[in-house]
Amino acid sequence: MHTILSISNLSKTYASGFQALKRVNLEIRRGEIFALLGPNGAGKTTLIGTVCGIVKATEGRILVNGHDIVTDYRRARELIGLVPQELTTNAFETVWATVSFSRGLFGKRANPAYLEQVLRALSLWDKKDSRIMTLSGGMKRRVLIAKALAHEPTVLFLDEPTAGVDVELRRDMWELVRALKERGVTIILTTHYIEEAEEMADRIGVINRGEIILVEEKAHLLRKLGKKQLTLQLEAPISDVPAQLAGYGLDLSADGGAITYTYDDTQSERAGIVKLLRDLDDARIRFRDLQTKQSSLEDIFVDLVREAS
Ligand SMILES: Nc1ncnc2c1ncn2[C@@H]1O[C@H](COP(=O)(O)OP(=O)(O)O)[C@@H](O)[C@H]1O
Ligand SMILES: [Mg+2]
Repeated sequence: MHTILSISNLSKTYASGFQALKRVNLEIRRGEIFALLGPNGAGKTTLIGTVCGIVKATEGRILVNGHDIVTDYRRARELIGLVPQELTTNAFETVWATVSFSRGLFGKRANPAYLEQVLRALSLWDKKDSRIMTLSGGMKRRVLIAKALAHEPTVLFLDEPTAGVDVELRRDMWELVRALKERGVTIILTTHYIEEAEEMADRIGVINRGEIILVEEKAHLLRKLGKKQLTLQLEAPISDVPAQLAGYGLDLSADGGAITYTYDDTQSERAGIVKLLRDLDDARIRFRDLQTKQSSLEDIFVDLVREAS
């Protein structure tokens, strides 16, 4: 495994005295899609800002493919593409001028064929001579992506790429991210949409109040922390869970008409269900229907953030 981005002991305290990042350690692997998930204000944009040299770190060290972001800034920065959270483009320029200029900024030789390919992939080709201010919000966002890709970065940061965008653009964005990954680009996206992380990521990091509280393979995370729930609709409501069933940690619905059993999805715990059903029968609690549900990443995320705060 090759590390493309290495962040060690990164802290950021803003001039206001607010500590937005607390000793963050994170290694990103070449070619992966990494989703940084966290609620608003968690520090996602600050973290990206420090890597991209927009925010000055208070402490810590960042290496991009071995290049120190402070002492070897140009080499490190040219490897990075950034699609910022906020829409920031020169409104009076044309799409073509913006992307060409952005490529030039990084000292890359002009390559119209490449830029055409990028614009076509983003359905922007027929807008290449339009001034940015004449474009819709969704199109402006596409321009930001084209701009970030103009110098052929190795690592692409997408800061909340789909916040407030329509479904179509979201789909296109996901498709584009997958295509970039195919070409070997490493992608780090921040989001507070769990479904986006669940859909896209190879690995997921969770950040809360400036601290990375978890980094895990997505599949592993879902497997490890994924709980199952069995809900039984009762034939007749009950007012309390009988004492002999206390060990199961059952949840009784507000109307007393349903009980829910939460268990780990393992062989031994599944076996516990058989026992539970027998014990219910012994307690003369009958049910008329049942469902099981696998908890989603959403539930896991909510639990994690709750535990950490
Ligand atoms: N320039 C700044 N000065 C002071 N505090 C800031 C500044 N920028 C961001 N913050 C604070 O740092 C915290 C993290 O912000 P941010 O990195 O934007 O979070 P996220 O992107 O996860 O929503 C927030 O509490 C925010 O108010
Ligand atoms: Mg942000």
